[in-house]
Amino acid sequence: MSQILHSSPVKKLITKSLKTDCKELKEKGITPYLKVILVGTDPASLIYTANKKKYCEKVGALCDIVSLSENILESEFLNIINDINNDQQVDACIIQLPLPRQLNHLDYGRLINKEKDVDGFHPENVFALISNNLKSHNFVSCTPKGILTLMQENQIQIAGKKIVIIGRSMIVGKPLAMLLINHNATVTVCHSHTKNLKEITKNCDIIVSAIGKAKFINESYLSPKNDQIIIDVGMNTDTLGQLCGDVDYDNVFNKVAAITPVPGGVGPMTIVSLVQNLLQASKNRLSL
Ligand code: GUN
Repeated sequence: MSQILHSSPVKKLITKSLKTDCKELKEKGITPYLKVILVGTDPASLIYTANKKKYCEKVGALCDIVSLSENILESEFLNIINDINNDQQVDACIIQLPLPRQLNHLDYGRLINKEKDVDGFHPENVFALISNNLKSHNFVSCTPKGILTLMQENQIQIAGKKIVIIGRSMIVGKPLAMLLINHNATVTVCHSHTKNLKEITKNCDIIVSAIGKAKFINESYLSPKNDQIIIDVGMNTDTLGQLCGDVDYDNVFNKVAAITPVPGGVGPMTIVSLVQNLLQASKNRLSL
């Protein structure tokens, strides 16, 4: 029997402690406050940001979605970010990606002050991750952090394991590779130019797919031993318009030891990590 790595039990456990932490912060005079900057009306981004706000409110934190026009001028966009950076009441801010074309050239890692950078994109946060020297004032990118939590809470061993990550984005693939190396895994990062992908995926213990291609990974990518663990980061729609991952779940289910479902796997863990980072930012403000 394959194990389904649902996020719900882990989320429930963490939500309880986040609610307690939030209550304690409020008693000390700080209400954790996140600003989410959303430019345009990308349907997926609208759903993700609404889910982030809903979860903040569930644990007792404040969250504003700052909705901006798709055509906003760069100068206006930068002014809004500057105001948020200088707002003493705001603990944290994220800029929902992707950004529209006229803002794409901006160095988004440097836009949000590092103390409020709960996405973990600021160069100082990235360097702390790469150098395995994370302190309480540093933040780790939310999806990699959520994947690590899900693995640890399910007692999945990481040290010494061969882990293949498919996808090399700044949001998932690259920071996840660093995080797993820090936890003593042997990590291979694959991407669209990788040759013999199947040979690589068949010969590892854990496969993480973050490529954004519906049902791309099927049993032909897997070891015949049926003993691998699959982490599916994909959020795609299939030919019937149904939400699905990068992995053909029904095709591989009996061929793996464990697999994350889509929805209900990695996605909710990203939001949990975001709010963990938010509360950390609030605690840091308290001790300033
Ligand atoms: N778009 C998709 N995932 C993310 C994320 O984790 N952070 C931000 N800022 N934008 C995203």
